[in-house]
Amino acid sequence: MSQADQSAAGNLLNLGLPDGFLWGTSTSSYQIEGGAFEDGRGLSIWDTHCRQKNRVLNGDTGDVACDHYHRYPEDIRLMQQLGIQAYRFSVAWPRVMPRGRGAINVKGLDFYDRLVDGCLEKGIEPWLCLYHWDLPQALGDQGGWINRDIAGWFADYAAVIACRYGDRVKHFATFNEPSVSTIFGYLLGWNPPAVAEKESYLQAVHHLNLAHGSAVQVIRSLVPDALIGAVHNIQQVLPCQDTAGDKAAAAILDAHWNAVFPDPQHLGCYPELVARDFEPYQKAGDMALICQKQDWFGVNHYSPIYAKAADKSELGFAWGDPPAEIEKTEINWPVCPNSFRDVLMLASSRYQLPVYVTENGCGGHDAPDAKGEVADTARVRFLERYIAAMAEAVRGGADVRGYFVWSLLDNFEWNAGFANRFGIVHVDFASQKRTIKASGHWYKRLIQANSVDAKGS
Ligand code: FCB
Repeated sequence: MSQADQSAAGNLLNLGLPDGFLWGTSTSSYQIEGGAFEDGRGLSIWDTHCRQKNRVLNGDTGDVACDHYHRYPEDIRLMQQLGIQAYRFSVAWPRVMPRGRGAINVKGLDFYDRLVDGCLEKGIEPWLCLYHWDLPQALGDQGGWINRDIAGWFADYAAVIACRYGDRVKHFATFNEPSVSTIFGYLLGWNPPAVAEKESYLQAVHHLNLAHGSAVQVIRSLVPDALIGAVHNIQQVLPCQDTAGDKAAAAILDAHWNAVFPDPQHLGCYPELVARDFEPYQKAGDMALICQKQDWFGVNHYSPIYAKAADKSELGFAWGDPPAEIEKTEINWPVCPNSFRDVLMLASSRYQLPVYVTENGCGGHDAPDAKGEVADTARVRFLERYIAAMAEAVRGGADVRGYFVWSLLDNFEWNAGFANRFGIVHVDFASQKRTIKASGHWYKRLIQANSVDAKGS
């Protein structure tokens, strides 16, 4: 690591974060597990999507991914080596309930037992997310999120998970980034089930909200000491151009992207700007079910997003590209730490709950050098700036209690396949060799310097 980055790491020694601040890493089932056809796992909508033409770059799939299904002991050891305090992972619904409901696959449950126990043995707190986009295909065939019955199916799945792991897992998240899975999956047609239809999207949102509320109730009743939250990608939405049309489009996308899940879940109503769109799908009692008390608020954040006016779009916005002139990562995502700071302040004040950064990280095309080391200097700089911005938010009053870097491992990055690497640990997908990157070593030092022991309290 260069001198500049050594001192950059040094600059973070006194972050002034609250005692007990939690440092973690995040992953998700489909992106790392592999073992797609093993031990009775059912198909997910991502298995299907990956097999369709021109969906995923290079035709990549999550069939093997990081082979974490077999290599989890090594991955837990890596976390221990890095001083990771908490691990946010997701359960693959089709691994434990191959058809999404009904029969339970005990071998699938056993896998997460081993994972959870392995983490606990190493002093790593497991944070379990129920849904990180890999819906069982069998439920997809019955309409997926468009079918209102899915709220009950999801609650049944949540019950299985809560019963099985509730004695050891205390942190549960219902959903990861529901606005991505619904907007990309049902409105823009990019992610599975690749539908592009206003009605389907609006139904999917409302049914997912119902599923969230039902799952919170179930987990609460089965695990009274559970700490339950959901993970939202909160991102500033900027107009592509400073025109009235683009600004109006940005306001609408903002409501859909940032508010149609957290607002009903915490404030008991859809955001005013778009509330009427959801009326046809609401029944008496829905809002009371959706709006359950939660214990923490998860924020995933990478960059601002952009909107532009579009006459054709039924919802009044079109997805925009970031302006050419702004700073971007190697994979062209905007870099804007101040936006991260502002988002954390907003989430904390609007929802009045402890906030955990459940994802933040930097994509690139890292490869080992001649010495076999991965000098991902750009990622170190990115993390240093974003974490400094988070500390600024805390100084400004935001109640942020933890930070989970995305991701522990390079992994299957959805439609970008294996091309975009986010790990602080490099994975050679041919050999499955793991190499801690410079960012991993840096993150370890950061944790050491900012943990309770280091502060001497
Ligand atoms: C988020 C997803 C996560 C990962 C990162 C880069 O939107 O939750 O699975 O793909 O982006």
